Amino acid sequence: MSANVDTIPLVHMISDTPSETVFACASSVEAHMEDFLSKAGLPSNLLDAVRYSVLAGGKRLRPVLTLLSCDAVGGRRADAMNAAAAMELIHAFSLVHDDLPAMDDDCLRRGQPTLHVHAGEAMAILAGDAMMSLAFELVSGAHGDDKARCSAVTVELARGTTSMIGGQVYDTLGGFPDGMGDRERLELIHRNKTGALIRVACRIGGICGEADAKQLDALTRYGEAVGLMFQIVDDLLDVTQSSEHLGKTAGKDETAGKLTFPSTIGLERSQAEVQRLLEVAREAVAPLGEPAGGLQELAGYLAVRTK
Ligand code: IPE
Ligand code: IPE
Ligand code: MG
Ligand code: MG
Ligand code: MG
Repeated sequence: MSANVDTIPLVHMISDTPSETVFACASSVEAHMEDFLSKAGLPSNLLDAVRYSVLAGGKRLRPVLTLLSCDAVGGRRADAMNAAAAMELIHAFSLVHDDLPAMDDDCLRRGQPTLHVHAGEAMAILAGDAMMSLAFELVSGAHGDDKARCSAVTVELARGTTSMIGGQVYDTLGGFPDGMGDRERLELIHRNKTGALIRVACRIGGICGEADAKQLDALTRYGEAVGLMFQIVDDLLDVTQSSEHLGKTAGKDETAGKLTFPSTIGLERSQAEVQRLLEVAREAVAPLGEPAGGLQELAGYLAVRTK
């Protein structure tokens, strides 16, 4: 397929504001999570902690990717809603644990004090644990979804979560295979700690929409490109934006001595890599045609987002 960014219709122009479709998907997932959490039978203090992390802000990009990937293969969003909510719960769990004193030791997230600052470290650890188990309940088939699809989605979600945790280990504790240079280590960290969940968000949207093998392959390639691109942009925003704008502490990567794209290849080459990955992502889903319009647009936004 020879499609490139120039051949993509005007409607897929790049904007630094998410489209109405993205907002609509995000609010439907929020309503779904709110309803699910209220019925989960959690102790009230644990429910408060989970709600604090999950429901107050966040761009909801992973669940939106799930719903738009389902759209892209002609599926019904309702069939992907539990999986979308599960994606966001796993992501929110990863953020709560990422911010812990033993990890990045951050005090600001989504514009408010991090959960361990707000409710104490023990509650933050336990709320993160609960978000993970609640996510797996959502995709287990206990909530009315097709059992065969649930089984495939559960495997994807489990593998993506394990990869994310492995990526956090590389990022925080090392343990790299022998003989790797900084650039290779960097890709290994980013493809796992952030890329894996984004890749899986796209794949499970496809699975819920009954994608065929070719469609799933297109979504996988899109997810891999967007997943790496997402963390490069995150690294860039850490050095170019303020904490107030981001709603999380800016400038931390350098202080913490993290291996990042800007620190390894510089700002300009990092930006060029973002553009390259955007094109890879858009070309990957070009064969899916107009139903993948939401993904085309979202990739553009993710490349130029400022928070
Ligand atoms: C932040 O993710 C953590 C990374 C994996 C880079 P987001 O930028 O998606 O954070 P929220 O969900 O909008 O808060
Ligand atoms: C976070 O990476 C990745 C995960 C949460 C899995 P970062 O540590 O760069 O994310 P921020 O910048 O704190 O959001
Ligand atoms: Mg981190
Ligand atoms: Mg962090
Ligand atoms: Mg970061």
